[in-house]
Amino acid sequence: MAASRSGRFKVISAVVLVGLFVTIFLYAAVPSKRVLSYIQPSSDKTDKKKPDKPKPHPIYKPTPTPAPPIVDNFPLAVDAREPTDLPPIPSWNAPPTQHVREYTPLLIGFTRNWLLLQQTVVSYLTAGWPPEDVYVIENTGTMNANRNGNLTLQNPFYLDYRRLTEVFGVKVISTPTLLTFAQLQNFFLHTAIENNWDYYFWGHMDVVALSREDWDDVPDEGGYKSLYMRCVEDMRKTVEDGYLIDKQNHKGTWAIRFYAYDRLALVNRYAFEKVGGWDVMIPFYGTDCDMHERLTMNGLIQKPGHVGLVYDIADTLGDLLRLYRRRPAKEGETEPAHLLPEDERGSHEWEKLRDRLNSMSVSKNNGDRNTWQASQEGGQGEPYYRDPAGFEKAIEMWMKFGQDVMAEKWGHHGCNLRGVGLSAGDEWRVKHDW
Ligand SMILES: *[C@@H]1O[C@H](CO)[C@@H](O)[C@H](O)[C@H]1NC(C)=O
Repeated sequence: MAASRSGRFKVISAVVLVGLFVTIFLYAAVPSKRVLSYIQPSSDKTDKKKPDKPKPHPIYKPTPTPAPPIVDNFPLAVDAREPTDLPPIPSWNAPPTQHVREYTPLLIGFTRNWLLLQQTVVSYLTAGWPPEDVYVIENTGTMNANRNGNLTLQNPFYLDYRRLTEVFGVKVISTPTLLTFAQLQNFFLHTAIENNWDYYFWGHMDVVALSREDWDDVPDEGGYKSLYMRCVEDMRKTVEDGYLIDKQNHKGTWAIRFYAYDRLALVNRYAFEKVGGWDVMIPFYGTDCDMHERLTMNGLIQKPGHVGLVYDIADTLGDLLRLYRRRPAKEGETEPAHLLPEDERGSHEWEKLRDRLNSMSVSKNNGDRNTWQASQEGGQGEPYYRDPAGFEKAIEMWMKFGQDVMAEKWGHHGCNLRGVGLSAGDEWRVKHDW
């Protein structure tokens, strides 16, 4: 009797156990309702039952009126295949036939607006920068799409890779993914480390650099110099004055040389490494302030220098040929403008160019600032396409967020950190002062 009762018990236990396993297995194997909603088409029976019930979502924003199409600002370069298809660099600005003994890399970051980038690059080349030293850091987040020529001019992230490398002769390095301003600055630093550069120049992509053709020289300084040669000269002075001034021969007593506010800067890589680079937790505005304050807190020198004109500009000249400084056509001359002989240095034409750039820069700083980024709207259907207005909006949100991080980091709103008694090492340790 006892044996048969324990046998029945075993059978019942086995049945219960198997049942439990089956239940657990079914739970694990059958996707939940939420998972099903991802893998099944969203239209189900309830939609068919009530066909006239309006969908509450999505309700679209009004479609913006389309912007006029972008036209290339350097028509001669559109058909150019090699550097000799363009006019020569103005003779008074031509880079030295033999490169100066120092390397002089100039890094220019690019995310949007080809016209402004092209204008910036051409202005540095016509101001004497050796093309092989100009590095466009393509930060479009479109992988190899530009190198393959997959994007079109109407796409905000378009860049003419072939023209930059084959016609202008400059270099293009693409970032592995879209970087924020702070990350891009660290990418510059990374590029310097990888290339063994002790220092590098970096410039904004919405500027026009112009040599001071009217610069009256002190005779013993050797006469007129291009903006590039003045950069070389100032770099030599900077390196001599502060680079190895430390008694222990430590590098890095100077950090930055600023030209024309911060539109062009010479950076001492070692100084930036010493303070741990840029804080990528502050993605855009505010991160420059954080960086420059930390450099000063650590006793690293930042000083302005003078090398020429660098205008901050949100628009483009009608034709970049103007920067090549050809003589204006005389009455009756019918030759194409690019085949005309060179103008004279410091001519009336140069003054007109300078005044034009100056007024463009004034209008940018009177409210046109940051309008240029979102002026291109095409590229739908091209690789890595993003909605241009959405991209702009998201960046604005990130900018705001970064300022909150900055305030939290230092316990203080705004840029005046040392002014309120903060110093190196206070990061994240100070209570809010608001
Ligand atoms: C991009 O360009 C390459 C090279 O021209 C071409 O092979 C490829 O099919 C293009 N891809 C797209 C998505 O257009």
